[in-house]
Amino acid sequence: MKLHMQTGDITTWSGDGIVVNLFEGVLTPDGAAGAIDKKLKGLLSKLIKKGEIKGKLGGTVIVHTLDKLSTDRVCVVGLGKREEFTLDRARQVAANGVRALRDAGAKKIAAVVHGAGAGSLDPEAAAQANAEGIVMGLWQFHKYHSDNAETKTLDEVTLLERDASKIKVMKEGVARGEIIAHATNLARDLANEPGNAATPAYLVEVAKGLAKKNELELIVLDRAKAKKLGMGAFLGVAQGSDEPAYIIILRYWGAGKDAAPGLGIVGKAITFDSGGISLKPSEGMQDMKGDMAGGAATLAAMQGIAQLKPKINVTGIVPATENLPSGKAYKPGDILTASNGKTIEVISTDAEGRLVLADALVYATQTLKLSPVVDAATLTGAMNIALGAVRTGVFPNDQALGELVFEIGEATGEKNWLMPMDAEYGEAIKSDWADLKNSGGRPAGAVSGAMFLKNFVGETPWAHFDIAGSVGLFSGAKVSGYKNKWGNGTPTRTFINLALRLASKK
Ligand code: BES
Ligand code: MN
Ligand code: ZN
Repeated sequence: MKLHMQTGDITTWSGDGIVVNLFEGVLTPDGAAGAIDKKLKGLLSKLIKKGEIKGKLGGTVIVHTLDKLSTDRVCVVGLGKREEFTLDRARQVAANGVRALRDAGAKKIAAVVHGAGAGSLDPEAAAQANAEGIVMGLWQFHKYHSDNAETKTLDEVTLLERDASKIKVMKEGVARGEIIAHATNLARDLANEPGNAATPAYLVEVAKGLAKKNELELIVLDRAKAKKLGMGAFLGVAQGSDEPAYIIILRYWGAGKDAAPGLGIVGKAITFDSGGISLKPSEGMQDMKGDMAGGAATLAAMQGIAQLKPKINVTGIVPATENLPSGKAYKPGDILTASNGKTIEVISTDAEGRLVLADALVYATQTLKLSPVVDAATLTGAMNIALGAVRTGVFPNDQALGELVFEIGEATGEKNWLMPMDAEYGEAIKSDWADLKNSGGRPAGAVSGAMFLKNFVGETPWAHFDIAGSVGLFSGAKVSGYKNKWGNGTPTRTFINLALRLASKK
């Protein structure tokens, strides 16, 4: 799909369909919807009065123009209540509008930039949000359906703005939005790939492609190199799998090699989590192909950052392995030594995420001296119990970083919530035989996971994102706005925006 931003009048535009909008409770449409209503001889206002077009947030109604316009269909998308309108709502309705026309069979469509007119948002920010919503909202994953005859796709979406003086900044907004949304879609593609395709070696190939295309530095640590670095926690998890395991490192040098090492982004990539010897129940186990969603978001964020080119250095680190039972697999009771020398008693081989992250975080903070460091992981089922799919639980050891991340979440719609890390929560992961144990039991399970990770970051400002609920791996979620139902790319946009925000501060 090609996305254009141009000056033009939507009432004379010709193609398969156009998208206009309406706030809830408005009886006489103005702006673009008003102009279209006039050309349709009051059809829209009639449907509003009959209650068929309500303007409810995200609702779409398609009417046929029957040759009264040079376009076949008009989609009216609801903006919800005027006083509740936000940038993220612009993203959501932009997605719903284009998707409704796509599903109706349109190929070439135009849309107004929701929020730029009546919503009175900043035109550049509105254009960016609309582009993000459109590109994310049109994402589909049909790679493994052999019959794609029914699959509908759009060829072209044109965003139209009447005021030519705004077009320059709006084009910039659209370009930024496209980069951010395509990065998010990459994270979704990777998460949705099955475990037999998206192996650790496959993620290395993806990273190679990203490095080549975006001029990133690539470092790949295989088992032998990880062993030299003393990464006993990562290797403990990997030892039950016959697939080669890797720690993938992508470096973007936006501030140059003489500047500070910069931001570190670490992402858990268990390409399939069976639980290992502490085997998971078989029901729902297929969703654990998505246990690499944090790593997917990390690779994707590196693509987005490399394309947006902020003046900051950023390094992505992705520990990638399967977690399987076998005659060689690590066992409950085993004691592993991580690369910072800390010993870990294995209580559950299903608490593997924190083990692979431990060595990756030591590498990020001690070896590469990255600061601040964030990590994303589908770490605990308990996180889903606590916050569900609506918000990511974020565990910061640094208040300013936590607040920044929270603020970014409110703006991007990848909503975060700051979680506690009182020292008392650390009691649960003390071991009788080693420095730590890898499970603190059920109470506050997401917090004890974060407390475990805290042992591997030293004094570095850090924030852990437990995306087990928010990335949508629990089957049954619905498509909503620009969000797909499974493996939604969270927190790719947060990480990209964090890099942009940290760069603009300097
Ligand atoms: N990958 C899982 C957590 C998960 C479950 C994410 C379902 C998304 C959907 C993780 O490795 C895990 O198994 N965690 C254990 C930790 C426990 C043994 C301390 C859990 O949550 O039960
Ligand atoms: Mn597990
Ligand atoms: Zn896992």
